Amino acid sequence: MATKEGTWAYRDRFTEEFGRTYFRRFGDGVVSSVGLGTYLGEPTAEVDDRYEEAITAALESGCNLIDTAINYRHQRSERVAGRALSDANVDREAVVVATKGGFVPFDGERPDDPGRYVREEYVDSGVVDRSELVRGSHCIAPDFLDDQLDRSLANLDVETIDLYYVHNPEGQLQERSREAVYARLEATFERLEERVADGDLRYYGVATWEAFRVHEEHASYLSLPEVVSRARSAAKAAGNVATHLRAIQLPFNVHMADAFTVEAHEGSEGVESALRFARDAGLNVFASASIGQGRLAEGLPEAVADRLEGETSAQRAINFARSAPGVTSALVGMSDRNHVAENLDAGRYDPMGADAFDSVFE
Ligand SMILES: NC(=O)c1ccc[n+]([C@@H]2O[C@H](COP(=O)([O-])OP(=O)(O)OC[C@H]3O[C@@H](n4cnc5c(N)ncnc54)[C@H](OP(=O)(O)O)[C@@H]3O)[C@@H](O)[C@H]2O)c1
Repeated sequence: MATKEGTWAYRDRFTEEFGRTYFRRFGDGVVSSVGLGTYLGEPTAEVDDRYEEAITAALESGCNLIDTAINYRHQRSERVAGRALSDANVDREAVVVATKGGFVPFDGERPDDPGRYVREEYVDSGVVDRSELVRGSHCIAPDFLDDQLDRSLANLDVETIDLYYVHNPEGQLQERSREAVYARLEATFERLEERVADGDLRYYGVATWEAFRVHEEHASYLSLPEVVSRARSAAKAAGNVATHLRAIQLPFNVHMADAFTVEAHEGSEGVESALRFARDAGLNVFASASIGQGRLAEGLPEAVADRLEGETSAQRAINFARSAPGVTSALVGMSDRNHVAENLDAGRYDPMGADAFDSVFE
């Protein structure tokens, strides 16, 4: 598990190489404001090898955040993250390992008959009630996530996952009401609170694509205050003093800045953006797709690029995401160790202040 001592010692080892506030608070520890994501890439042994090299290099160069999910590359991303974590010359206690459960994963490769695989592995075995599956591929029921958490612990070969996200819960809105989704989230949060008490995870969160950055009228909208309130009830029901809901994840980049601009969450000072609400609620925000799934490495709109620091477009895009008020860390998918070196160099620049960040939108 990432610990206070382990992550602060990691910071001390690398801090001189980076700019101001490169390392940021996460719980009682610290995490780098550039994190390594593992979503993209073919599910092949060759890509596994690339990721293993890239993750090891990142951990040994000042990035102590790995973001993965059980379904990424059919569980290969979690397994390779586990291998890199044990290969790298860093202590386990220095690294924040985040993963997610919600999409029913395949095992290493796409089966010839996916429907049959899901039926045999999950439905017939009693892990999932068929009525809980949305489109045959997504589930956030407590028993399913319990099972997925066990599999992630084994894949990552760790005793404790530092941050466990419920993955894209808005997918459930395709087949159920918002109220039904909140109720399921509360039931699952209660199970996650119990697994915290058992030592299997430290914190949990909600990873989203649309839910928190769209207006209330949107079909994928979920209310952050409602999610936080459900987490508080879940903690109480599980007998925990406070909730362990600690983070949200959402896309944030130069072209997708809605988490900063769209006000859709009722906060203490009226309706607020997701970033503002999360900051006031003490939630860490992890930005996904920070370089627009690679596109922003090819260039940024000129008016924006001029205001951002960095030698390359990728660095400038990363510095936009990690400068947004309320963002803890910009996640960047990297299976190429040259990209790791280039992207971590973005952290050598100080982040923009709040006024400079605002001015990008003028
Ligand atoms: N809903 C969710 O929960 C959700 C959704 C999306 C993403 N995420 C998380 O967020 C992470 C980041 O998002 P993402 O991977 O989708 O998109 P991204 O980080 O914006 O882009 C990743 C892509 O950019 C390429 N790249 C990285 N650095 C580069 C550079 N300096 N120059 C040129 N190309 C570069 C990578 O190639 P190489 O692999 O060759 O290095 C990869 O193809 C994911 O990996 C995942 O962990 C979560």
